Amino acid sequence: MVTSAADFAAFSAMHPLLNVATAAARAAGNHIIRNFERADQLEVKQKGRNDFVSEVDQRAEALIVEVIREKYPDHAILAEEGGADGEHEVRWIIDPLDGTTNFLHQLPHFAVSIAAEVRGELAHGVVYNPFSQELFAASKGAGATLDGRKIRVSKHAHTEGALLGTGFPYRKGDDFPKILAALGEIMPLAAGIRRAGAASLDLAYVAAGRLDGFWEFNLAPWDVAAGMVIVKEAGGMSADIHGKGNPLNSGNIVAGNPKLCVELGGVLQRSLRSS
Ligand code: IPD
Ligand code: CA
Ligand code: CA
Repeated sequence: MVTSAADFAAFSAMHPLLNVATAAARAAGNHIIRNFERADQLEVKQKGRNDFVSEVDQRAEALIVEVIREKYPDHAILAEEGGADGEHEVRWIIDPLDGTTNFLHQLPHFAVSIAAEVRGELAHGVVYNPFSQELFAASKGAGATLDGRKIRVSKHAHTEGALLGTGFPYRKGDDFPKILAALGEIMPLAAGIRRAGAASLDLAYVAAGRLDGFWEFNLAPWDVAAGMVIVKEAGGMSADIHGKGNPLNSGNIVAGNPKLCVELGGVLQRSLRSS
């Protein structure tokens, strides 16, 4: 849900780290879009079973790192393709192209996801869809925005009747029975379940109230870091599906408005006990 245009002014004074994240996301997004027409012809390497990376992912990441390094040469970086680099109280967490499989199929639902953690706490996040040019952004304590306008999570408090996002596993070793048990619990309750293929956008959509909630197992920090800040600043909550620890590290995430997040988490835990 986007609130009034009057909110724009209040949110236009962006934190310098969020400014850099936005500039980096746009630079990477422009590169991704320039290559969209030929995405089905790119040379693709396989990182694992059904896990792909193209030269576009790699170049997008290099562009992001370049923009950050130009301003902040000493900051630490954790990026999907390049891994961890450096130690600093500010750590950037980067997914240069979230939704690579969609991109390679010219399915226009993918994003650039960039977060900045300050002294171990997620503080800034940007999720940019270069195809729609929608930019979701948030800084700790300053609210969440979509293209400069304030957004809020939906008010739908229950799994019953909710529109939910999720992700299905596709890698060797993924626990398929666990995922099917969760679907078995939730499907009869929910109004709908969507598997759109870019976790960062799923979370951004929760923040904007387009989805009431989201859950997925086995994600990486770069899939969720920016989205978690945006959900929180939009009045929502993210939690570990098992109810303990930080989903940034565990990768097992449930998100929504606080009531729905807690309820959906309970449903998921019930399904885990029965699987
Ligand atoms: C993937 C997407 C997808 C999720 C996968 C992620 P990638 O990221 O976020 O929605 O289900 O688990 O790995 O590989 O396209 O950056
Ligand atoms: Ca990803
Ligand atoms: Ca990626």
